[in-house]
Amino acid sequence: MPLLRRLASRLALACLLLTPMALNAAQTPTDPWWKHALIYEIYPRSFGDSNGDGIGDLNGITAHLDHLQELGVDAIWIAPMYPSPQIDFGYDIADYESVDPKYGNLADFDRLLKSARQRHIRVILDMVLNHTSDKHAWFVESASSRSNPKADWYVWNDGIDASTPGITPLQKRFAHDGKVPPNNWESVFGGSAWEWVPARKQFYYHRFYVQQPDLNWRNPAVEKAMFDTMRFWLDRGVAGFRLDAISTLFEDPQLRNDPERPGTNDQGDPNLHSLYSDNLPEVHDVIRRLRAMVDTYPDDRVLIGETYTPDVAELDKWYGGERRDELQLPMNMLVGFGWQARFDANWFRTTLESSQQVHGQPLLVFDNHDNPRSIDRFGDGSHDVQRAKVIATVLLTSRAAALTYYGAPIGMATATPKRREDVQDPIGITGWPREKGRDGERTPMQWTPGPQAGFSSNTHTWLPVTPDYTTVNVQTEDADPESLLHWYRQLVALRRDNPALRDGAMQFLARDNAQVLVYRREGAKPVLVMMNFSGSAQAIDGKWQEGAVTTLAASDASLRKLTSLQGVQLPPYAAWVVTPAH
Ligand code: NOJ
Repeated sequence: MPLLRRLASRLALACLLLTPMALNAAQTPTDPWWKHALIYEIYPRSFGDSNGDGIGDLNGITAHLDHLQELGVDAIWIAPMYPSPQIDFGYDIADYESVDPKYGNLADFDRLLKSARQRHIRVILDMVLNHTSDKHAWFVESASSRSNPKADWYVWNDGIDASTPGITPLQKRFAHDGKVPPNNWESVFGGSAWEWVPARKQFYYHRFYVQQPDLNWRNPAVEKAMFDTMRFWLDRGVAGFRLDAISTLFEDPQLRNDPERPGTNDQGDPNLHSLYSDNLPEVHDVIRRLRAMVDTYPDDRVLIGETYTPDVAELDKWYGGERRDELQLPMNMLVGFGWQARFDANWFRTTLESSQQVHGQPLLVFDNHDNPRSIDRFGDGSHDVQRAKVIATVLLTSRAAALTYYGAPIGMATATPKRREDVQDPIGITGWPREKGRDGERTPMQWTPGPQAGFSSNTHTWLPVTPDYTTVNVQTEDADPESLLHWYRQLVALRRDNPALRDGAMQFLARDNAQVLVYRREGAKPVLVMMNFSGSAQAIDGKWQEGAVTTLAASDASLRKLTSLQGVQLPPYAAWVVTPAH
């Protein structure tokens, strides 16, 4: 299983054990915009190429805003578009207050912001607080000597004597000048997390690539500088941030070894439990201060967290628990990416129910730029689109804000490279063949059945266009009322206006039904959502909703004219959303 996915799914089982307790937000007319939002992640390299260099750019996003408006998107989250050597395709930032020339410039960004605003679409930026690029001026200065003004902006250490008893083979592999890294910590992307710098005769810590040194968040100057960069963008009008790798800001001051677990990871290193290098409690103090800063701005700016947690109790901490003074929308990765996640009614019933047990609005996510696409993870190869409609139904009819990813609403597939020499993502090169990297979920957006799927005029795109683009594309699906795209549009429109779908509690019915997932969204006019997770027709229980019903959405045409649940068989993989007729 790919590295990030395994990280994503730590101990999801724990959430199955929690007792349900509903914490329903009262419906208020003053709800902040993000509470019911559909947020759409854009990977800027892959969305639209306006200048024909084979790489997407900001003007390419602006050019496609009408499509997003039609879909009903409330906000776009743009993965990092700042100047970057692009080792980690933008997650290695060299300047936090500008735009990478590959993607455009600040004027393009302002135009994008303005055009989006005209379409009632907000813009959320990705903010990488844990690390910078090694080409960032701060790091260049910090690495130059032990006495420069930024000497303490990153996590530096002398290392320990190479003859110290008990050092691991990995530490030995990274020996320099008779010194080895101070502990066994590993980079998530392979090898020791410590890199030697001759000018300082010290190691620096990097949780991710060598080119991504970790900032020292114990230094108040770092916090100030990073908050200033966020103000730069908030002042420009962005609606908030998605906080990258937020749990990793702090490391154990004693640098204790992380406990080893059996086996090796996809990069061939020992498995470790990141007890001392991840999720340290100090991070919550930073988040509270950050939230207070962001709250000084008008218009409900939002903080979204990349929060892979082992269970819902841990997830709740990112809201600030009862105080609710941290992130408004930490991502719930448990339903969509849990290690046991599968296309199964029981799985969704259990995890959706527990997802409600947080002191804030849940944010459901099934797709992002780090994991194989949900259509493949939940598909069976024969009914992928039907199953994707079921997943879309879960995403858009649950009591939650919803996060989707470019390509998901049209059913773009994961196109993992077949040969190592074609891989762009460095972890796919070092980890081949166990880890093939994340290129598969980052291929160019499929707009049309024309050349390069309408993504670029250049025949050489940074990743190849997936061959299914002739049928899986916006233009073709736009013309087909039964397409996945139309299903998304329909559900997004429905959830926007329907009071029960917006705020109604989720009441799970038929709890022992292993094939059909049924829940009612409570309200003066409740909404009943029924989804058949099986490949055979399933009987509906008329008691789920007695009396006459009106169909709000049905993925199978045979259901649309029905006026009651009595005696109905739910076709294979069908989703049916109804409300009492009166
Ligand atoms: C999480 C991002 O989603 C991923 O793409 C990136 O490689 C790491 N954080 C490091 O920034």
